[in-house]
Amino acid sequence: MPARRPQLVVTQDAEALADTAARRLLDRIAQAPGRAAICLTGGSTPEPLYRLLATNRYRSRVPWERTHWFIGDDRFVPPEDPLSNIGMARRLFLDSVGAPRENVHAMPTTDGSPGIAARHYEAELKRFYGRDRLDPARPLFDVVLMGVGPDGHTASLFPRSPALQEKESWVVGVEEAGCEPYVPRVTLTFPALASTREMLFLVSGEEKRDMLARVLSGEDLPAHHAHSEGELVWLVDRAAAPEGHPAM
Ligand code: 6PG
Repeated sequence: MPARRPQLVVTQDAEALADTAARRLLDRIAQAPGRAAICLTGGSTPEPLYRLLATNRYRSRVPWERTHWFIGDDRFVPPEDPLSNIGMARRLFLDSVGAPRENVHAMPTTDGSPGIAARHYEAELKRFYGRDRLDPARPLFDVVLMGVGPDGHTASLFPRSPALQEKESWVVGVEEAGCEPYVPRVTLTFPALASTREMLFLVSGEEKRDMLARVLSGEDLPAHHAHSEGELVWLVDRAAAPEGHPAM
């Protein structure tokens, strides 16, 4: 699939952003002929979206049996820890909507080390995909959700980290996080995140506005280097949007 230009979609507020994201997810899942694969993100921005997926309006429209849920990065803490990204997604929707347990692919962040967890998760992704090499014509994911941190990081790919240059591994351990919470992380790399029909960045709130403008203007920041084999969409609320982009 040829890479397309990033699109910027601006919504009125964080609630409309969650609604638009949920509709885009549903569309992508509906288009997937068999299994659908969604790669979730952590942080606080996706919380309204995850809550929305648990409401009657949305839960009845998701084919849970054929939809698989992954996580783009996680903190190296047990899933019940309040810092766990997959734990947050479980609490907000996956546990209450009846998603089959085997469809929720958490990173093994309880034992060993971030590096060992990365190798296990990479093996799990390869089993799901059915091949050891990513084929741009057959993306691993239908949607990859992403966020942007205050230092321009995305997933757990922090500025100046060697993980930014990784071309072979799909998943790597990150011993030192570049910003809070300062716990080791496990993260998918750019090539694995790019293997998607749609990469959907979620950005909301005025405090994100300056950083978003820097990323979109092409500054050398991790979020600017994220790419997608399919569509690349920046879904942003009005408070975070750069000047001159009216809301839908
Ligand atoms: C994490 C994330 C991270 C996050 C951004 C934005 O584990 O921290 O996956 O990349 O998406 O830091 O976080 P907020 O939504 O909380 O601003």
